[in-house]
Amino acid sequence: MKIGIAADHGGFTLKQQLFRLLEEEDYHITDFGAESLDLKDDYPDYVAPLARAVASGLVDRGIAICGSGVGAAIVANKFKGVRAALITETYSAHQGVEHDQLNLLCLGGRVIGPELAKEIIFAFLHAHYTGEERHQRRLDKLDEIENDSFK
Ligand code: RB5
Repeated sequence: MKIGIAADHGGFTLKQQLFRLLEEEDYHITDFGAESLDLKDDYPDYVAPLARAVASGLVDRGIAICGSGVGAAIVANKFKGVRAALITETYSAHQGVEHDQLNLLCLGGRVIGPELAKEIIFAFLHAHYTGEERHQRRLDKLDEIENDSFK
C-alpha cells in the first residue's frame, strides 16, 4: 500500500516521527512536505498536493497533520474523490474506512501524542472497506453530491 504524508509547522514534529515509523514498518511512504520546520508556512501548500495524489491514485491513502487537524481536513475535502476526516481515536480510524471509505486521515499535531497517533494510523491502514450495500448506497449518494457541486 502506498502512503502519502504531509504537515505544516503545527504537525511537522509528529510527521517526522510517523514517517520514520512507517518506513520501519516497510510501508512505501511519500513525504509531501514540509521539508523543514517553518513557523510561517501554510497547511494548504502541503495538504493540497497530498490530496491530489490520493485523488489521482498516486497514493492509496494519505495522512495530513496540522496543529488541530481541522484545516487539513477542510483542504483535503476540496478534492473530488478524497474522503478526509479529523480523527482522534481508533474506533473512527477503522470504522471510517470500513463504512465510509475514508482515504485521508487528518491528525492534530498539537492535540495528540505520537503513541496515540501510531495506534490511530495502524487502525486506519489495516482497515478495509466492507462494500456492504448500505454503505455503497451512501457513498453513491456522496458521489452524486460531489458530481453536482464540482460541475
Ligand atoms: C497553524 O498555526 C495552525 O493554524 C494550523 O496548523 C492548523 O491547526 C489549522 O487548522
